[in-house]
Amino acid sequence: MSALPAGRGARRTRGLAPTALAAASLLMLAACGGGSLSEGGGGGEGDDSGPVKIGLALPLSGVYSSLGEDMEQGFQLYLDENEDQLGGRDIEIISADEGETPQTGVPATTKLVTQDQVSAVVGIVNSATALGLKDTFVQSEVPLIIANAGADDLTTPPSPYIWRTSFTNGQVGEALGAAVAEELGGDPIYLMAADYAAGHESVDGFRESFTAAGGKIAGEAFTPFGTTSDWQPYLNKVRSSGAKAVYVFYAGAEAVNFVKQYDAFGLGDNIQLYGAGFLTEGGALDAQGKSALGVRTSLHYSNLLDSERNAQFVEAYEAAYNEPPTVYAVQAYDAAAVLDQAIESAESTDGAGLAEALEGVGEIDSPRGTWSFDENHNPDQPYYQREVQEVDGVLGNAVLGELEQ
Ligand code: PHB
Repeated sequence: MSALPAGRGARRTRGLAPTALAAASLLMLAACGGGSLSEGGGGGEGDDSGPVKIGLALPLSGVYSSLGEDMEQGFQLYLDENEDQLGGRDIEIISADEGETPQTGVPATTKLVTQDQVSAVVGIVNSATALGLKDTFVQSEVPLIIANAGADDLTTPPSPYIWRTSFTNGQVGEALGAAVAEELGGDPIYLMAADYAAGHESVDGFRESFTAAGGKIAGEAFTPFGTTSDWQPYLNKVRSSGAKAVYVFYAGAEAVNFVKQYDAFGLGDNIQLYGAGFLTEGGALDAQGKSALGVRTSLHYSNLLDSERNAQFVEAYEAAYNEPPTVYAVQAYDAAAVLDQAIESAESTDGAGLAEALEGVGEIDSPRGTWSFDENHNPDQPYYQREVQEVDGVLGNAVLGELEQ
């Protein structure tokens, strides 16, 4: 399985590796005389004078490692813009490597709660990992602010300890279904996704709105997550199915390989490719290059979104990291904004105190547009139809319009 391009990492000028981020936070505290944890207890124990301990659990390895890097950069940018404080308090970041699957992500993240005694954790890319962690957070009464993983069940029913600044997989798929049914005018579509919670939910959401709008399905396939490197057998089936389009869920390194092989196999010109927007986001699009031209996706962000707030964010992000921001960076940036509000108003900064304060978090002034939490603790937000185009000589996800929900 090919990794994301080295060039993207190489262009990074200021992003601290999470361990460096933690070290920098500690140094900052030492320099300004912040209270030591042994003096007053950790943030997880509700110390209201010292730093608030926040866990950052992101994939630093595996197929989603580039997503983790973007999220770390987004979170760090918010701290940079706010004098390294959230809610007027110094912050101590403790990082964990989520890795690729629950086998790595669950123990690494659990340690943040049980051993490091953080007041809250931000992060988690993989839905299966997040599902494996949900009970730990609920039972420990420590908030988990999910900055990516989209599994529907994480927030249904809602828990006071589970919040999400990203999306639900079902919603991203569902947002696109009716528009594609109309574009295809009765021609059938093939559905394909990574074989785990996120892929199934994305396809289910798409299928629901697509068939409700009269769309027809030619077939479907779920590919082993993290181990599929050759999509040709599946693409053969697409070709012989008579499908006129394909809808997929792939992200990170899987998205790179899938889109390149789709194009190399000659399907790109005849069978329109649609997907959840992760397919062509950030480093994935960089690596796909022109093989992604014309791919249409749904997502709640594009760095090409035309608004003053986004322009300001893109400028700051590019100045800091020398690359355009992604949806992953925005989700983590917004998680920092959520914590900023929660810590500001919290009566105590232990897990229970922060959970209570999260209930009162208001509008988030995000690069994606202003949003607030819905009753399930997910962002109430618009989704956009995007198309990979060459804009000013650079490949990007041009925004075609807002999707009806
Ligand atoms: C998920 O597992 O929910 C997931 C992973 C990567 C994405 C989007 C969703 O880009």
